[in-house]
Amino acid sequence: MQHIFEHGTNGRTLLLLHGTGGTERDLIGLAKKIDENANILSVRGNVLENGMPRFFRRVAEGVFDMEDLFFRTKELHDFVQQASVDYQFDHNQIIAIGYSNGANIAGSLLFHHEKSLRAAILHHPMVPNRDAQIPSLQHVDVWIGAGTNDFMCPAQESEQLEQMLKAHGANVETAWFHDGHQLTMPEVQAAKAWYTGIFK
Ligand code: MLT
Repeated sequence: MQHIFEHGTNGRTLLLLHGTGGTERDLIGLAKKIDENANILSVRGNVLENGMPRFFRRVAEGVFDMEDLFFRTKELHDFVQQASVDYQFDHNQIIAIGYSNGANIAGSLLFHHEKSLRAAILHHPMVPNRDAQIPSLQHVDVWIGAGTNDFMCPAQESEQLEQMLKAHGANVETAWFHDGHQLTMPEVQAAKAWYTGIFK
């Protein structure tokens, strides 16, 4: 997969997953604000929708092509595992940071591939799969940034995602914002405060 890797010094790796129409460059600045000493692995989605990169196909806005979601989630999982060998980072210390479509594939990693992530920061996510056999998420920390007025990811999606993750053992915190689907600086600062509390 097309990607950027930058070496850090603290043994953690931030896996960056952009939103629809984004690229692997989008979240680098944000990642440096969260943890400037971590490795960065930033990946571009392999699917194109009218020329816009995404991590999996959808049949309509908010309606996912489930077969493609499973295929692309495994493809990303395998890619990240191989990258941990190639770049020699600890695959037990991967923290995903995803926005929108990128948050949804990060959620899908958690739902379908046990121990794929140590933690995740999910900006404006949805429930990736309501029928998943979710593995144990004990010792997984998740922060959700959600919008009370997000037209793309309705509030109940974020609430349901939180409940489903918690039901399988994850430690989840949700923070609410009022700027629609936008990822704003106060949201990034709140994610950083949470991250700093988890990884003291
Ligand atoms: C998705 O398709 O993943 C969601 O609708 C969010 C987005 O449009 O990126």
